[in-house]
Amino acid sequence: MPTALIVLAAGQGTRMNSDLPKVLHPLGSAPLFAHALASGAALNPDRTVLVTGVGGDAVAKAAHAIDPGIILVDQSEQLGTAHAVAQAEPALKGFNGDAVVLYGDTPFIRPETLTAMAEARAAGHDVVVLGFEAADPGRYGRLVTQGKRLDKIVEFKDASPEERAITLCNSGVICADAQTMFDLIKSVDNSNASGEYYLTDIVEIARARGLSATAVTCDEAETLGINTRAELAAAEAVFQARARRDAMKAGVTLTAPETVVFAQDTVVGRDVVIEPNVIFGAGVTVETGARIRTFSHLEGCHVGAGAIVGPYARLRPGAELGHDVRVGNFVEIKNATMDDGAKANHLSYIGDASVGAAANIGAGTVTCNYNGVEKHRTEIGARAFIGSDTMLVAPVHIGNDAMTASGSVITRDVPDGALALGRTGQTVKPGAAKRLLEMYKAAKAKRQKVT
Ligand code: UD1
Ligand code: CA
Repeated sequence: MPTALIVLAAGQGTRMNSDLPKVLHPLGSAPLFAHALASGAALNPDRTVLVTGVGGDAVAKAAHAIDPGIILVDQSEQLGTAHAVAQAEPALKGFNGDAVVLYGDTPFIRPETLTAMAEARAAGHDVVVLGFEAADPGRYGRLVTQGKRLDKIVEFKDASPEERAITLCNSGVICADAQTMFDLIKSVDNSNASGEYYLTDIVEIARARGLSATAVTCDEAETLGINTRAELAAAEAVFQARARRDAMKAGVTLTAPETVVFAQDTVVGRDVVIEPNVIFGAGVTVETGARIRTFSHLEGCHVGAGAIVGPYARLRPGAELGHDVRVGNFVEIKNATMDDGAKANHLSYIGDASVGAAANIGAGTVTCNYNGVEKHRTEIGARAFIGSDTMLVAPVHIGNDAMTASGSVITRDVPDGALALGRTGQTVKPGAAKRLLEMYKAAKAKRQKVT
């Protein structure tokens, strides 16, 4: 069945107390709404419509970065969930298939749950609602059922005491044939306790028209919606717990799982070892057998098979490490490739650079990439040996098998196989060391007398 997702993300998110629209607050280093899109991806949607309102431009920008094909529709006035879905109608004109409504602030709906809803649709139910047994039903909408049959959804505010006693609640996720859904919405009015157009009313309207409705249920944890910063923090904990569990299931060793932070899109291969206190920002892939040692921070980078990173390494966006690369303590790599077997083991900055296979970068090496106005590139050939404390003043090219002497400042290209000595001269004064020490001691003694 062709499927269209309609993701509601127009709400203000007042309780976040923020200038940032709620759905742009990050969860697992991705905007909140990206998690709803990821759940919906299980249905392989033909079209995805995001309904935006507050902060629409910023949301639009973030949405396009995630899915260039996403269709954005504006709901400038939030008149209710039915009104929000109705805004998607022009975007789905002529669309033949199911519409699945998700909330942008509800990140944990599992793909399997959406598949179960699609199956209920395929089994002939016209409207399928995702419900859950609530430990504390609070102010959720209640599902009024007779066995498998769903008769209506009543919002808490409008519910009778008997209806309020129902513990089967509405998650907000709903699925029906798209054109049927839009058609049913046309009959929704706002004569209720909130004065809103409730999407939930389409169930009763459908039943009155002789259509069938049913509820599929999921675990309450999946339906967790975010309204406050405290809920966002709680959701982050849930997200991380899931990500750690999934990583271990996929064959990744986490020596102290609770200290590792993942991003929504982190991809880690089998038999990778992740030591304690490692942080993954967005856009990281680590290939099989690599080891990420303690206190490393990775973002927007790729770590090849068998590579060892850290402890205390920082890989910034554009760091591309080939297989068996070594990046040691206090090394920062940005927008730079390190080919297979290259090493930078200690205290270096490699930015806007390419490092050839099996090259060795000595301790304290810096690619001086920025002249205050522009960034320039450093190219280092295969098997090159960069002596400790070499300053590579970009743009500069070091040939294959070339060497630089330790302490060099390299400002000009070094051909293949050449040795570059870029040190300033050295003056030697015999016996001066002792005199210098005595001078320091005398100065210290004089200071102590004064105080
Ligand atoms: C809704 C459901 C309720 C369900 C609950 C689950 C309705 C009428 N009620 O209630 O049955 O138990 O979710 O959390 O649907 N939104 C818009 N535009 C609007 C209104 C809402 O985009 O005009 C978005 C919000 O940003 C939010 C979602 O829709 O992401 C749900 O809206 P909200 O106002 O939070 O609905 P609830 O009152 O919680
Ligand atoms: Ca809500």
